[in-house]
Amino acid sequence: MQILHTIPAVRAARQEARGSLGLVPTMGYLHAGHMALVRAARDANDHCWATVFVNSLQFGQNEDFNTYPRDLPRDLALFEEAGVDAVFVPEAETMYTAEFSTYVDVEKLTDRLEGAARPGHFRGVTTVVCKLLNIVQPHRVYLGRKDAQQLRVIRRMVRDLNIPTTIVPVETVREPDGLAHSSRNVHLKPAERQAANALYQALQAAQQGFVAGERNADVLRAAMRAVLAREPLLDVEYVSVADDESLEALTTIERPALASLAARIGTTRLIDAIELGSDSSPSS
Ligand code: PAF
Repeated sequence: MQILHTIPAVRAARQEARGSLGLVPTMGYLHAGHMALVRAARDANDHCWATVFVNSLQFGQNEDFNTYPRDLPRDLALFEEAGVDAVFVPEAETMYTAEFSTYVDVEKLTDRLEGAARPGHFRGVTTVVCKLLNIVQPHRVYLGRKDAQQLRVIRRMVRDLNIPTTIVPVETVREPDGLAHSSRNVHLKPAERQAANALYQALQAAQQGFVAGERNADVLRAAMRAVLAREPLLDVEYVSVADDESLEALTTIERPALASLAARIGTTRLIDAIELGSDSSPSS
C-alpha cells in the first residue's frame, strides 16, 4: 500500500493506476462503516484509494476539531489489511496554503438541518471534497448514508460543477443495538452509549409508522420525539422528516423522504438518518 503525503506524489501514482479508481475520503479513526466503503470501492474498481484528513475547515470554532479522535497508524494498518492500494494523508498546509482563498458553497440544500446547526460546516466539506476529487480524480467516490445531508450536498456539487466522478452511497453500518458506527462514538461514556441507542429507535419509530401507512410527517416527527424524550441524557437538536432530495420539511409524505435527527449526549454530538419510501429503505 502506498502512503502519499504530497500532491505531486498523488499525481505521479495516479498516472500509474490504469483502469477504474474508487476513492474513500475519510477523516480517519476508522470504524466498520468506513470498512464497508472500502469493500464497496475495492469490489467495483481496479484500484481502491483512501484519504485521511481531519479537515479543520468543516469544524466550527466551538466544535470538536481538537478532540476529534485520531490514530493514523491504526488507520493505515486497517486500510492495508482491507486491500487499499494507496492512501493520501496530506498535512494541513498541503491542503490549505497560507494564501488559500477559494471555497465551494452549495446553496439552499445546506440551509437546513446540519447546515443550520453547524454554520460553515458544508462549505468546509464541499471545499475539501472538491479539492480531493481534483487531486485524486477518481471514477467513483464512496460515501456513507448516515451522513445523509453530506451525501446529498456532495452529489449536488458534483452535478453542478460537472466533476467527472460518480457518487456511490453505501448503507450505514450499525452496532447490534442499531447505533450507527461513528468515529465520535468513542467519546461516549457507558451510560451515554446506552442512551445513544434511542437515536436508532426513534428512526425506527418513523420507519414503522411509515410502513404502517402513516403519511403525516408531523405524526412521524412526534413519534421520533416521543422515543427520544424517554432518554434524559439526550439533548435533541433536531428531528426531521423531509423531502429526500431537497431536504425541505414535509407536511405529507408523497415522495421518498428522509427521517433524520441530531442529538447531543454529554459532550458528543451524534446524527443519524433513515430513508422512507426509497429503494434503499430496509423495509419498503
Ligand atoms: O464524512 C467525512 O468523514 C468527511 O466529512 C469527509 C467527506 C471525509 C470530508 O472531510
